[in-house]
Amino acid sequence: MSCVVVVGTQWGDEGKGKVVDLLTRQADMVVRFQGGNNAGHTLVVGGEKFILHLIPSGILHADKHCLIGNGVVLDLEVLREEVEALRKRGVKIDAENFGVSERAHLILPYHRRLDQAREARKGKTSIGTTGRGIGPCYEDKVARRGIRVADLLDPEVFRTKVEENLKEKNVLFRELLQVDPMAPEELLEARPSLADFIRPFVCNVSRKIEEALGQGKNILFEGAQGTHLDVDHGTYPFVTSSNPVAGSVCIGAGIGPTKINSVVGIVKAYTTRVGSGPFPTELDDDIGRTLREKGGEFGATTGRPRRCGWLDAVVLRDSARLNGLTHLALTKLDVLTGQKKIKICRAYRYQGEVVEEMPACLKVLESCQPVYEEWDGWEEPLRDVKKRDDLPRQAQDYLKRIEELVGVPIGIVSVGPDRDETLIMEGPSFF
Ligand code: GDP
Ligand code: IMO
Ligand code: MG
Repeated sequence: MSCVVVVGTQWGDEGKGKVVDLLTRQADMVVRFQGGNNAGHTLVVGGEKFILHLIPSGILHADKHCLIGNGVVLDLEVLREEVEALRKRGVKIDAENFGVSERAHLILPYHRRLDQAREARKGKTSIGTTGRGIGPCYEDKVARRGIRVADLLDPEVFRTKVEENLKEKNVLFRELLQVDPMAPEELLEARPSLADFIRPFVCNVSRKIEEALGQGKNILFEGAQGTHLDVDHGTYPFVTSSNPVAGSVCIGAGIGPTKINSVVGIVKAYTTRVGSGPFPTELDDDIGRTLREKGGEFGATTGRPRRCGWLDAVVLRDSARLNGLTHLALTKLDVLTGQKKIKICRAYRYQGEVVEEMPACLKVLESCQPVYEEWDGWEEPLRDVKKRDDLPRQAQDYLKRIEELVGVPIGIVSVGPDRDETLIMEGPSFF
């Protein structure tokens, strides 16, 4: 019986989906606990690619249970499309292997419209959200006017809440944002078919987890986004509206902190970011462009090109502390093949002083210059390597230096997108 949490340590897109799929072999249950369909988690199995936005990345293992916890914000239209598309590809999804919390908040059409209209209004100063309605839905949750899965199943409760919420939203749409208002009927008409779709899956996720733990089962918690997109600990306000850090599992899935055994932090071998916000090691040059092309760094959700830069150990040390990381899983090491020199940022310099941790003040962070150390690169392709000792010496040195700078051992190295292109270190046990 063991609980393992997988989180992103940077600004998202570290390869969480691939690692969750891999670790699902040892798990009985996989649970998403925050975020929504702003996430895009890619799995590649035998050359076949799957991009998941809401469904946990354990779903390709038909005998494992996948759950969406109360901390996730759920766009049921997107979920229905995702379920249908996966079923068409032969993936089993039914009430036996999939469940959704009755307490999860719903993303409704007015959340999407609000997100997009606010971003458009901000123009150049926008956050660069995914436009999926994530922020407005979490706002409503905290403001205690959110609509939850359980409310959708009750036509009267749903109608009352939608009508009440639209009164306020429509003032914003008309008066401030200059977009079309929304009629309650649009949402009320869609309700019965969405309710019929979701009803078989609705459950108490916290109870399901408790039952599984009582039976000695292993549970994997799949984080979305990354530590530096965390609304409390990230580069605020250029963050998402949830808490992607490991502690969020307790709230978003309904388990106590004493139940968590290990936390695996996914680290991309370099850094990427989508959307606006500070990024000290960003490379606006040929190296940045090469990383983007070789690494296929285009958003799995919006298709936007990802900003690319060198690995930042300041970012990673912060993540180690904020998540209590027990292991690192380093992904995309293969993408660095061919770089003559590889840089790691070990600290920042601000007004002549060396800074070892992420400053809270955005203006300070924006003025920080990276302090780099430079390592030799390698030429060999890595995608067939199966053991850490068989990596080129320079790649081994790079891994060792990351472990030293972050203070956490690397348990997994990924050298290609496919499930099989992975090196699992001997020694650390995740479960
Ligand atoms: P996530 O959001 O953290 O699950 O990451 P994404 O799926 O958004 O982005 C990671 C991308 O890198 C996907 O296209 C993966 O297929 C790909 N990927 C994952 N691991 C590796 C790796 O080790 N090497 C390469 N070349 N690609 C990888
Ligand atoms: P995965 O799980 C990378 C970014 C957006 C934007 C900011 C706020 O695939 O790693 P939001 O729509 O959440 O209000 O946007 O957060 N963002 C992500 N960036 N990977 C993600 O998810 C992200 N989810 C949100 O680009 O900068
Ligand atoms: Mg992603």
